[in-house]
Amino acid sequence: MRLSIFVLQVSLLSTALLHLPQPTKALPLSTNGRWIVNKSGRRVKLACINWVAHLEPVLAEGLGKQPLNTISKSIASMGFNCVRFTWPLFLVTDDSLVSMTVRQSFQSLGLHESIGAINVNNPAILDLPLIEAYKAVVANLAENSIMVILDNHISKPGWCCSNSDGNGFFGDKYFDPDVWIKGLTQMATIFNGSANVVGMSLRNELRGPRQNVISWYRYMEKGAEAVHSMNPNVLVILSGLSFDNDLSYLSNKQVDLSFTEKLVFEFHWYGFSDGQAWAKGNPNKVCGSVKANVMRRAGFLLDQGYPLFLSEFGVDQRGGNVNDNRYLGCILGVVADLDLDWALWTLQGSYSLRQGVLGLDEVYGVLAWDWCKPRNSSFLQRISTLQSPFRGPGLADVPPYIILFHPLTGLCATRKSLLETLQLGSCDESAAWTYSEQHTLSLKGTLMCLKADGESENAKVAAICNDTRCKWDAISDSKMHIATKLTASSSSLCLDVGSDGTTIVTNPCKCLNKDKACDPQSQWFKMVNSTRNVVNKDSLRTGIKDEGMWAAQ
Ligand SMILES: *[C@@H]1O[C@H](CO)[C@@H](O)[C@H](O)[C@H]1NC(C)=O
Ligand SMILES: *[C@@H]1O[C@H](CO)[C@@H](O)[C@H](O)[C@H]1NC(C)=O
Ligand SMILES: *[C@@H]1O[C@H](CO)[C@@H](O)[C@H](O)[C@H]1NC(C)=O
Ligand SMILES: *[C@@H]1O[C@H](CO)[C@@H](O)[C@H](O)[C@H]1NC(C)=O
Ligand SMILES: *[C@@H]1O[C@H](CO)[C@@H](O)[C@H](O)[C@H]1NC(C)=O
Repeated sequence: MRLSIFVLQVSLLSTALLHLPQPTKALPLSTNGRWIVNKSGRRVKLACINWVAHLEPVLAEGLGKQPLNTISKSIASMGFNCVRFTWPLFLVTDDSLVSMTVRQSFQSLGLHESIGAINVNNPAILDLPLIEAYKAVVANLAENSIMVILDNHISKPGWCCSNSDGNGFFGDKYFDPDVWIKGLTQMATIFNGSANVVGMSLRNELRGPRQNVISWYRYMEKGAEAVHSMNPNVLVILSGLSFDNDLSYLSNKQVDLSFTEKLVFEFHWYGFSDGQAWAKGNPNKVCGSVKANVMRRAGFLLDQGYPLFLSEFGVDQRGGNVNDNRYLGCILGVVADLDLDWALWTLQGSYSLRQGVLGLDEVYGVLAWDWCKPRNSSFLQRISTLQSPFRGPGLADVPPYIILFHPLTGLCATRKSLLETLQLGSCDESAAWTYSEQHTLSLKGTLMCLKADGESENAKVAAICNDTRCKWDAISDSKMHIATKLTASSSSLCLDVGSDGTTIVTNPCKCLNKDKACDPQSQWFKMVNSTRNVVNKDSLRTGIKDEGMWAAQ
């Protein structure tokens, strides 16, 4: 057990090394249509992790567990190039917090053990004022080439978010719009010189009984102008209503700003955003309907030409939450398809104090409780290919092609050693497909195409193929079953993973729309557009030119 975990971590590390974070000299960022780009106009994909500093102690979590630099290095080694770093408004607007040191903050909460732990792991920050400690984290992330998005998560430090916590909307008890503008202005000014601070999220998850569209435009425009006037370099990121699930009103009316090429929208999407719908329904049906809702509420912004940042998503990484598990397969397909910028919830393995509980375990955290290792390396494997871009300005290493991405494993259909069969393997070695009007999936630049041999047989790459078993359709409401038929009258076979866990086979399509208990995810493959340069290891090793993968170009 120990050994196999170790092997996984080593292979993860090598995947991460392929995608070393971009050096921060490529900053600042701006927008080009729906893409975020660097100064040369080349796409920069935000593959962020949320890191929390907005709870009562107002210090980045984990500094009592590990040295700051160790945490930053682990973020990079897990393949993230960016941190969405939360802060409470009162950090810079409340007189007592402005002058408070880290030690005093923990003392005031009676967290004496945490003080000892911080003194062991990060003695240099213990007597810094809270804002200086926050700056020290940003500076250390810069040293590790990690970008930062400052996220104003709440006003009054504490766990977020509920409809009645007084932090939900302009005019709530702790949410005076003037104080908010003042705080944003200060943060924008403080970090104007920090090259790795590439964006500011103006306010997390607007919500509650006061929320309304008119005030949203009024204050978001004011906040955006305030930030931009103090710091013209940062992307200005606007969150929607109803816990950042709803930006639909932007389909009728755009925000009116004095500046261009800096505006990004963010939205949140969790399994629990739809209650227990995933666990209680047929996963294909729920995936189809929830995705349609998400597109209507937020996804349409991509077509309007704005970047859309999925700034929170995540699951219980222990693997036992059915609602989360089904949602994860679906959302990973969507994130791959749309090649979204995103921030996973969350980094912290535990909190010094959350909702009154000392040392609370964060089961959505990528780090384990002790912050020493990843909580679940198979989860990291599943998101690893989504950490680098598939496409976008300046990235067309090769002409567009299609990959078959398998969200359950995070792997792709690959072809090893010119074999007829296909295996799940790294998406960096993915087979590259063309999907024709005749619904064939052919290896790009060749006439060879994907063919079903029979039930429970290996899916094949065949040289000659001109019948129904070579015609493939994305079926079911999820559009993630890649299906064919042996004869015009037979029932559908779907791509699936064989019993060895690696070989790709064709099995009867499962749980298409009725069964609620059934989990279709082994059969979920997403056809994703890509222009990534695929490494074909066989051609490198043998010196044999790959049989024309790019020859046609
Ligand atoms: C933009 O990114 C590309 C790829 O990382 C890099 O080669 C280029 O130098 C960057 N542009 C600037 C202005 O830094
Ligand atoms: C922010 O930094 C830019 C240079 O990056 C500078 O031109 C500008 O004057 C600064 N703004 C303020 C308000 O200090
Ligand atoms: C990691 O996640 C997988 C799948 O979600 C689950 O089966 C496994 O038990 C988890 N491992 C740990 C150590 O939590
Ligand atoms: C494929 O079959 C159809 C009908 O059987 C035939 O009309 C067509 O010419 C064939 N195409 C090729 C490329 O062989
Ligand atoms: C993928 O490419 C095809 C063909 O160019 C296009 O029709 C489709 O809209 C693209 N998908 C996405 C999500 O952009």
